[in-house]
Amino acid sequence: MEEAQRIQSLPPYLFARVDEKIANAKAKGVDVISLGIGDPDLPTPDHIIDELVKAVRNPENHRYPSYVGMLEFRQAVAEWYKRRSNIVLDPKKEVMTLIGSKEGIAHIALCYLNQGDIALVPDPGYPVYGIGTLLAGGVPYTMPLRAENGFLPDLEAIPEEIAQKAKLMFLNYPNNPTGAVADKTFYLKAIAFAKKYDIIICHDGPYSEIAFKGFKPLSFLEIPGAMEVGIEFHSMSKTYNMTGWRIGWAAGNARVIEALGRIKSNIDSGVFQAIQEAAIVGLLGNQEIIAELCKIYQERQDIVIEGLTALGWSVERPKATIYVWAKVPKGYTSTSFCELVLEKTGVVVTPGNGYGEYGEGYFRISLTISTERLREALARIKDSLGNFEF
Ligand code: MLT
Repeated sequence: MEEAQRIQSLPPYLFARVDEKIANAKAKGVDVISLGIGDPDLPTPDHIIDELVKAVRNPENHRYPSYVGMLEFRQAVAEWYKRRSNIVLDPKKEVMTLIGSKEGIAHIALCYLNQGDIALVPDPGYPVYGIGTLLAGGVPYTMPLRAENGFLPDLEAIPEEIAQKAKLMFLNYPNNPTGAVADKTFYLKAIAFAKKYDIIICHDGPYSEIAFKGFKPLSFLEIPGAMEVGIEFHSMSKTYNMTGWRIGWAAGNARVIEALGRIKSNIDSGVFQAIQEAAIVGLLGNQEIIAELCKIYQERQDIVIEGLTALGWSVERPKATIYVWAKVPKGYTSTSFCELVLEKTGVVVTPGNGYGEYGEGYFRISLTISTERLREALARIKDSLGNFEF
């Protein structure tokens, strides 16, 4: 049963490893508070659930769904973009349903990378950009995201021969794990770079709706030229508290969408139609729930920022996302600090190096836990760990 080389050095997914640590601690009787994975604790809104319950009773929905997704779902996505950012999309050619955006992100590499081709991958970054590249036989080239550059990649630092060989560039704003956001100037530069070197930009935007104090993140697709060079991955997961439902989409350049569809139709059989029908109601129905959600995350962000600041941390306040990205204290690595926190307090935070080598020296807190438990987590850190040096 010798495994293929492509998976021999493949580690279990970052959060599968974190889950194992949580299970071990729980087995020892620890009351674990997980600020690890970004998995909304609040329920999916009722009107979406009600629609699912209705749709699940329709036998038409029990059959294979369409490979590219129900046209009605793709139309709802197009309407969502029109309403949000005045972007006009052809739902038939420029939108595709995904089984959560993670799936599309992993599959896009199979569409464009030949053996040895390069994908430009942000670091720290969502692990699937690099892993999808490796599984396709490609080579991830790291674009460091540094605090001094606002956690934006420095495109001018990419060597000419690398740019020439690159086929894909992954970008993700609002950013996981750093919480950084990108402005139009940056996106315009990235689009010009992509045009110059014939690179496809895969922008991952699942956190675009979770923003604070009136800030409205840009969609990549609203930037002039974006539709010529790339696509945006998006998802119902974070906006509508639907991580478990597995539904997302890719939207943008029609040729890229078609290529992704060709791979996918040979590998999967689409998203259960009842879920797509419920998601349509989510996209087209009451959006006030998102403002309420952001209010809750804002309160939680305040608790974390104020709590850490009182202990001596200097932490950036993210304009968007469900994360806080903070430096580990002096004398610790990402791993040793997260281990200390778990051991002494039962609180799980994610080590920054799980998102790549440039995440070393940081840890990430996810705000997806009840406000009460979040307060408790901060109190435990204060009581059991006290002050640190930075
Ligand atoms: C995260 O916590 O980084 C994401 O929620 C993980 C994921 O989407 O798989």
